[in-house]
Amino acid sequence: MNTAIITGASSGMGREFVKLAAQRGDLDEIWVIARRGDRLAELAKEGQVPLYILPLDLMQQESFDRYRSELEARKPQVTLLVNASGFGRFGRYDQIPLQDNLDMIELNCKALTHITGLTLPYIVQGGHIIQVDSLSAFQPVPYISIYGATKAFVLSYARSLNVELKDRDIHVMAFCPGWVKTDFFDHAWKTSKEAVTYYNKLFTPEEVVRVAMKDSAKGKDVCVPGLGVKAQVLATKLLPHKLVMNIWMKQQKH
Ligand SMILES: NC(=O)c1ccc[n+]([C@@H]2O[C@H](COP(=O)([O-])OP(=O)(O)OC[C@H]3O[C@@H](n4cnc5c(N)ncnc54)[C@H](OP(=O)(O)O)[C@@H]3O)[C@@H](O)[C@H]2O)c1
Repeated sequence: MNTAIITGASSGMGREFVKLAAQRGDLDEIWVIARRGDRLAELAKEGQVPLYILPLDLMQQESFDRYRSELEARKPQVTLLVNASGFGRFGRYDQIPLQDNLDMIELNCKALTHITGLTLPYIVQGGHIIQVDSLSAFQPVPYISIYGATKAFVLSYARSLNVELKDRDIHVMAFCPGWVKTDFFDHAWKTSKEAVTYYNKLFTPEEVVRVAMKDSAKGKDVCVPGLGVKAQVLATKLLPHKLVMNIWMKQQKH
């Protein structure tokens, strides 16, 4: 059974990964993970590929115990793992509740690492891992400081894991989109609507996830969809980060 496993599948980019993966025609089953089981069940009605629904909260240890047992019982041959669960909060560090900052680390870094570790024994030769990352991985981002730091972790982890897993012929890619129109903003704005106000371009999930699927198949280790976003990444490599942060602060009117 060729299986894809996708976290964050109940909305936004994770949901789009489910749709596009199902269209590829090479999968027998897709495991979909998120807390909102009802949203996952709705997705199952649309699909060309059977979905195995796992309504799990990836900030709870018992969810990983359940996931481990499911893997042991069903022994899937995983050809694609996508870690898309994640959230952000906008605002000055000391104005975001400490628990929210800790939860971002818990979900964006720890849960992603945990799912990757538990799934790895089941990923087949030629399999792919897509770690949903962000443009904010490439520079420190004031007013999204912890979120940006979690994404820097994902970038570093994904790139080195890609090198380490070459001998197993497993490919790992950090997928780093700019702003994407999803429910992400409803969560990020919970702490501040004023901290981040300038969004140069909003992509649709379909636009960016299509690029991610193509780039993963091509074997890229980092995927940055969109020319403007690529130019921003280049700027973070060429310019001192102090200057890049100053530009960001001016754009956001701080
Ligand atoms: N939107 C952007 O501009 C943007 C840009 C770059 C990167 N990203 C990254 O893209 C990824 C996907 O976000 P999105 O934009 O698609 O936003 P989204 O629509 O809010 O999707 C987030 C997903 O994460 C899941 N999730 C949240 N908390 C969870 C938990 N405790 N346990 C399990 N699943 C949980 C949500 O499902 P449930 O609520 O059902 O659990 C949902 O499916 C995130 O890592 C985000 O940081 C977003």
